[in-house]
Amino acid sequence: MEELATLEDLPQEYRDNLEKLNLVPLWPSLRDVLPPETPQPKTKPILWPYDTLRPLLMQAGDLTPIEKAERRVLVLANPGHGLENMRASSVMYLGMQLLLPGEWAPSHRHTPNAVRMIVEGNNAYTTVNGQKCPMERGDLILTPTGMWHEHSHEGTEPVVWLDVLDLPLVYFMEASYVQPGVHQNIQGTSADTAYGPGIVPTPVFTRQNPHNPLLRFAWKDARKALENMAVNQPDAESIQVTYINPETGTDCQNIIGFSSLMLRPNETLTLPLRSSAMVFHVIEGQAQVQTTGNNFDMTQSDTSCVPCFAPVTLVNKNGDKPTFIFIADESPLQKKLGLYSERPNK
Ligand SMILES: [Fe+2]
Repeated sequence: MEELATLEDLPQEYRDNLEKLNLVPLWPSLRDVLPPETPQPKTKPILWPYDTLRPLLMQAGDLTPIEKAERRVLVLANPGHGLENMRASSVMYLGMQLLLPGEWAPSHRHTPNAVRMIVEGNNAYTTVNGQKCPMERGDLILTPTGMWHEHSHEGTEPVVWLDVLDLPLVYFMEASYVQPGVHQNIQGTSADTAYGPGIVPTPVFTRQNPHNPLLRFAWKDARKALENMAVNQPDAESIQVTYINPETGTDCQNIIGFSSLMLRPNETLTLPLRSSAMVFHVIEGQAQVQTTGNNFDMTQSDTSCVPCFAPVTLVNKNGDKPTFIFIADESPLQKKLGLYSERPNK
């Protein structure tokens, strides 16, 4: 492509006259906003090992009482976006949240969608619009936009979970805000809405609630589905399941997509180049994430992020045990906007 004139090629007086009138010449920035062939993401490949962040998260428990934090979170910030912007990618926010025994993170609701992937601990629960969602390691709990949620802890050990939100996008849209709530009365547990595999209520009238009726995906169920798939579909390119809205069959949230992948013993899986950034979090086992300029050796509870169109190969070097990886990506949003694409990873 032709190299274009720069700002400095223009006389200073002309540039000053433009600036006074709030005008900007496009051509010096044209290649930045429309780079040829491939986006130029600020998102960098990055790994957050859990054993390095956990002591600092526990220290936060000593330093700041929950009443002074409301949500005690260390944000997994991508330096490519500037740490102060608290983004893992342009769309995804990641935070590691700590709740100590007996603590309560008060009820609120906000416009960004959130999910929790439970990392460690027992006997905590999230209440979402009156539904009690137990938090056990590997469970995925949804708190979609506008739904009241609070976190309680009746156990004896710290509970930690990974928050994934579309906060950077919603904030960029100037649509981000929170409303404080009051302590919710529990009206049932999330299991009440888990109708059964492939079985959902038949609506008489069009269902009014736009949200996923299933707010908690138990890890034992997702793990079982992956194990069954590995047995029943041994020739599948990848053993991966997506968390969906069972009533519509669509992604469980509108903007970020969530899935779990099983790497079989000794498996190497090369993904296509994708137009969406991706987050990987190891639920069980070990995996190497090979991407541009990096080989991330990940173990249980580690989290990493790769930018759009990055080459990604996932390797389970263990010959005896499978590895289970939780994946978050921006494909639901990109597909709705007609922006999603894949290319072969040569
Ligand atoms: Fe929240």
